[in-house]
Amino acid sequence: MSTKNLHLIRHAATVTRHRRALLFGHRSAVLWFTGLSGAGKSTLAHAVEESLHQRGGHTYVLDGDNVRHGLCSDLSFSLEDRSENIRRISETAKLFVDAGNIVLTAFISPLRIDRDQARKLFQAGDFFEIYCQASIEICEQRDVKGLYQKARLGEIKEFTGISSPYEEPLHPDLTINTGAESLEASVERVLAFLIQNDILKPSL
Ligand code: ADX
Repeated sequence: MSTKNLHLIRHAATVTRHRRALLFGHRSAVLWFTGLSGAGKSTLAHAVEESLHQRGGHTYVLDGDNVRHGLCSDLSFSLEDRSENIRRISETAKLFVDAGNIVLTAFISPLRIDRDQARKLFQAGDFFEIYCQASIEICEQRDVKGLYQKARLGEIKEFTGISSPYEEPLHPDLTINTGAESLEASVERVLAFLIQNDILKPSL
């Protein structure tokens, strides 16, 4: 606890995470999607959410491009600001997990140290790092948002994979080859992973 917060005392909720899980019919957790811009993190996170929602799951996607319009609109793409971005998102995700949701986060989150910090906020079994693996060549070739071209022209500074680092996960909980696998196959793999890890029951 920081010295600023010495006189804060937590209030215990009567509606607990456990009670929410009983009501919702599934456990809550964070699926932390990481990968290069254009690797397909948001597409996969939203497709998994769609599938979970259709089964009655309680979900929320936190997405880099959206969150940077609000909660993180004051942050740049320096490594320091990216760390702060990830810190805020992980704290937000923690609230959503307490609220009983399956939270899907789609952020480049380029540094291992930041992703490890995020993981440390959660109990074992509540945080899963999912690496959306697609090479820089493939992402640049797709260039869905036209940002790689701008980065090559020097119009965007500190662009991940071009002029700013991306550290591949060393021990991701799940790797999806988003550079090659179809979206449908990727969604099925994530759903199977959730069942294996007791987040979902096969019947949900
Ligand atoms: S992170 O590095 O802090 O995790 P985040 O996921 O929030 O990044 O935002 C990434 C998105 O911002 C990219 O998908 C892209 O659309 C956009 N973007 C704008 N400038 C940059 C940049 N310099 N590097 C990477 N992405 C950028």
